[in-house]
Amino acid sequence: MSTMAQRDWKYALAPVWPHFTELQISRGKGSFLFDREGNPYLDFTSGIGVTNTGHCHPRIVQAIQAQAEKLLHGQATILYHEPMQELVKELRTVIPDPLDCFFLTNSGSEAVESALKLARHATGRTNVTCFQGGYHGRTIGAMSVTTAKTVYRLHYQPLMPGVAVAPYPRRKEDVPYCLEELERLLVTQTAPSETAAMIVEPILGEGGYIVPPAGFLPELRRICDEHGILLILDEIQSGFGRTGQFFAFEHEPMIPDICIMAKGLASGLPLSGIAAPREVMERWVTGSHGGTYGGNPLACAAAAETIRVLKEESLPERAATLGKELIASLNRCKDSGEIHEVRGRGLMVGCEFRDTRQKPDRDRAAKVRLACLQQGLILLTCGTYDHVIRWIPPLTVSQSELSQALTVFESALMDVDPS
Ligand SMILES: Cc1ncc(COP(=O)(O)O)c(C=O)c1O
Repeated sequence: MSTMAQRDWKYALAPVWPHFTELQISRGKGSFLFDREGNPYLDFTSGIGVTNTGHCHPRIVQAIQAQAEKLLHGQATILYHEPMQELVKELRTVIPDPLDCFFLTNSGSEAVESALKLARHATGRTNVTCFQGGYHGRTIGAMSVTTAKTVYRLHYQPLMPGVAVAPYPRRKEDVPYCLEELERLLVTQTAPSETAAMIVEPILGEGGYIVPPAGFLPELRRICDEHGILLILDEIQSGFGRTGQFFAFEHEPMIPDICIMAKGLASGLPLSGIAAPREVMERWVTGSHGGTYGGNPLACAAAAETIRVLKEESLPERAATLGKELIASLNRCKDSGEIHEVRGRGLMVGCEFRDTRQKPDRDRAAKVRLACLQQGLILLTCGTYDHVIRWIPPLTVSQSELSQALTVFESALMDVDPS
């Protein structure tokens, strides 16, 4: 005889999933989610940076509905289908040369695995260098280059061998040290002749919304060029307009060898991929990688329309403008002594909490987040110590929704005493 708890449907969900809210959501529209009773919640998580075009953008819903009537599954190694052709054309309009060739997968982690596998084939080398605080996903390869928190690795180790971890700069003064340590890795741990790639987030996401100082990414480009190492940029969270450019690397004068994309790409349908020069992709032995669902027609139709919407509604530009306003408003809260640091780019903004001893204040970040939730604003935390509240609303967010969220946040800050 099963107990009441066991009969509850929640009991049938694996507890490995943490739950940041207990909300039971029936539908979403724009910046809002609605629960079963119709109560609205301002969603400033965008489902972890996915719904950049807002929930259920009418044009994207329409594109999915139209495609659903035509073809649901079109296996990429058996046939070519129209939505993939459309998507590739659209991607070519937003990703700079020489990144002109694409491989499509379903999740961010899967795209990271693909990038790592491509790098091995393209260079004939095995090792990878990643950066402290980086997050690249949960599959074994992706996990091996993830150092944002030990919880992602605990009891899964040993992971993929051949990974070296370099420091990631937070401030301008850190850059020389970080570059020196990176160069040191190449003479102490992983010789360039064995190093296939460096993988890096252009802005640390799960690691705490840390924007590296200007010039750091171009220096990585220079070091990779010097040693024939491929530079992989993980744009999974920072891409598709989020930071005020289509891709965060466009804030710097550099282009990666492999660009990884997911999340905002298809407005919620599971789609991810990598972009690289055709000449690099040609070194990936045909048939040595693939998958059943990668480049699904529904997901490709959603992604092609997402890119058109992002361009036609000038959403990256909106992210740049609104992000500046958001940072200025949050800095006013900071000035009143409530927040340690406000940082970010576009609508990828973090508020870091520290206690009176300047230690990361996870407790306060959690309490503020919950106080916001009680007032109908959904926010997430990030950072190694979960002490950063991240602001990652849809790029379609209106001025009044932004003001509404700021009012809730300010009142939550007042309600939750500093520790
Ligand atoms: C920068 C980055 N890389 C990789 C991933 C993994 O993507 P997924 O959860 O779709 O596997 C994430 C997810 O949060 C991410 O933010």
